[in-house]
Amino acid sequence: MLGKTILTGVKPTGNPHIGNLYGAILPAIELANNSDRSSYIFIANIHALNGVKDPVFLKDRTYEVAATFLSFGLDINKTIFYKQSDIPEIFELTSLLMNYTPKGLMNRAHAYKAILEKDGNDDNVNMGLYTYPILMAADILAMKSDIVPVGLDQKQHIEIARDIANAFNVYYKKEVFKLPTEFIEYQDSIIGLDGRKMSKSYNNTIELFATEEDTSKKVMKIPTDSLLPSDAKSKDSLLYKLMKIFNVDNSYMDNFIRGGIGYGDAKKVLAETINNYLRPYREKYNNLMADKTQIDDILSAGATKARAVAKQTLKEVKEVLGL
Ligand code: TRP
Repeated sequence: MLGKTILTGVKPTGNPHIGNLYGAILPAIELANNSDRSSYIFIANIHALNGVKDPVFLKDRTYEVAATFLSFGLDINKTIFYKQSDIPEIFELTSLLMNYTPKGLMNRAHAYKAILEKDGNDDNVNMGLYTYPILMAADILAMKSDIVPVGLDQKQHIEIARDIANAFNVYYKKEVFKLPTEFIEYQDSIIGLDGRKMSKSYNNTIELFATEEDTSKKVMKIPTDSLLPSDAKSKDSLLYKLMKIFNVDNSYMDNFIRGGIGYGDAKKVLAETINNYLRPYREKYNNLMADKTQIDDILSAGATKARAVAKQTLKEVKEVLGL
């Protein structure tokens, strides 16, 4: 995307799977690597705090996200890659933006509303969750981002960031902030090993960095009917759909459909195909995770660059505000 600043954040939630890879990780890397402007990808570890309270868990997940992006080809010469917590200017900007954010805007945010509806009150909603969209707006506006690649579930947050930016600009009659636009890359969800959407909550995921053995075991459990190897199979069958997603050899898949291959054999081939595909990435990932200082160095170099940009934005904002 030419002439556009791309930015996206990733919450460190851990155990990334194929659904995350195709739905979020690869599209973000692709956009960031091919931008002719600055692009930013960061680990939203402060955003995670509204739910995650275990420091070891948070640290481990942060390294995992970093190693995932790096092993799948994020080009750190083109993309500024950093941890949100390393950029204090973002939190300063969050405080300032609070004053241009109507409470009603937060009341309408999906995540907050969902809890309110479930519990019947908001007594257990912490302010981190309630103000989540303001922090997210600060992430985006601090870097003067144009395009924010996100999943559909984040669309409202980008709209809120745009609303806040616009309210500020209108109030001070100055284009201080760019108005960001969401970029919803992938609307179809990837199917999981049980035929439903691939999701951690369904326990039907193919994890990117599991062992080959664990991956195979999961694939062998894909549910099938009782057709014989010699029976013709449907292209609508789950196993066929999964073979297609992972580009199993075409003549093998034709043979499967015609009735030359049994389910057990097809699952073995599928597992092998998945493991072959993931092997080089797993290797890079494991190397990075074995020497985390590499990751630390990359993220701290990224933070230095990101901070310089955020500082500049904050300076402009403060001037406009009379601070
Ligand atoms: N809220 C996003 C999510 O849950 C993560 C995120 C935080 C983000 N800050 C962002 C995404 C800024 C895009 C831009 O996935």
